[in-house]
Amino acid sequence: MNMDTRILDAGKEYDIKAAGEILRRGGLVAIPTETVYGLAGNALDPTVSAQIYKVKGRPSDNPLIVHITSMEELPPLVTEIPEAARKLAEAFWPGPLTIIMKKSPLVPKETTGGLDTVAVRMPSHPAAQAIIRAAGVPLAAPSANLSGLPSPTVFEHVCDDLTGRVDAIVNGGDCAVGVESTVITVVTEIPRVLRPGGVSVEQLRAVLGTVEVDRAVLEKPAENARVSSPGMKYKHYAPKADITIVDASLEEYAAFVNAQPDATALCFEGEEKLLSCPCVPFGRAEDALSQAHCLFAALHTLDEIGAKTVYARMPRKTGVGLAVYNRLIRAAAFRVLVPRDEMIVGLTG
Ligand code: TXA
Ligand code: MG
Repeated sequence: MNMDTRILDAGKEYDIKAAGEILRRGGLVAIPTETVYGLAGNALDPTVSAQIYKVKGRPSDNPLIVHITSMEELPPLVTEIPEAARKLAEAFWPGPLTIIMKKSPLVPKETTGGLDTVAVRMPSHPAAQAIIRAAGVPLAAPSANLSGLPSPTVFEHVCDDLTGRVDAIVNGGDCAVGVESTVITVVTEIPRVLRPGGVSVEQLRAVLGTVEVDRAVLEKPAENARVSSPGMKYKHYAPKADITIVDASLEEYAAFVNAQPDATALCFEGEEKLLSCPCVPFGRAEDALSQAHCLFAALHTLDEIGAKTVYARMPRKTGVGLAVYNRLIRAAAFRVLVPRDEMIVGLTG
């Protein structure tokens, strides 16, 4: 793939119109959203969905999210809107929440990876909304990275992955949230979170009462396991470096990392002064929102500085921290090390 990719400006009305025009014609445009950049195309055209999978190098059984801008656009996409979906939309749309419902025949199977459900989200980013309106169709948009790589939260990282592969990239600066939307299904009897994201499980429970969290969110999926969210079974968010999460206090972490040859620290801001190796910070300790905002850009930075062996701080799993942990544990291929246990093994062994 080596096509001319136009660079458009999210702040210019003329450019928003141009993006809409390209999308209406069946083209692909990378667009900013409040979570991460998306690789957008007409969700109702099966050939466009097929092209999205091809450009991303994504397995075609991993369904796409359909983006809308108003509640009127929802009924044609689904067979019914369950009460739980109404409550969630009322509380969190527009915003970083994706709701899975039964799909109507209008949504092609190509868009939903062959499933009879559809994932729908109403983004809050003004440029994303304006582009969907200009396109005049709902937009299928996976994260705008090549499959397996970290999602892009800054314009330059979208260009690295997609220049020459899409018709246009819309520059909207940095994404505010920094991790993808929370994916929740209301097709199950009890609503279930399939992917943690910008809306926390605590926030969802405050609106719905009981909410389950799918096992795949925290655990390593078994080989060939059936997972409810196909996206969770693929290797994800991985930079070239080998990352290991270190589950320890700051003091233990620093002592451990400083004793490793050729290490790079994926630490929190302000901790650099305790570390004698190259450091890439991702947000502040005790501040999950700042960690979410910085994580994917930090993973890109690790590649840019050529890091090979990376030791990461362990994020807290509460609030949006659960999404940070979920992404980081996949970037680390589920490697977690407890230095204290290592020492005990060392003493007894
Ligand atoms: O924040 C976001 O959600 C971003 C921006 C661009 O909106 N989009 C995004 O899309 O992260 P993507 O394709 O990278 O992730 C979609 C996730 C995948 O894990 C996929 O398996 C799941 O949603 N998903 C989509 N439709 C589904 C369905 N019908 N049933 C179960 N899981 C579904
Ligand atoms: Mg993705």
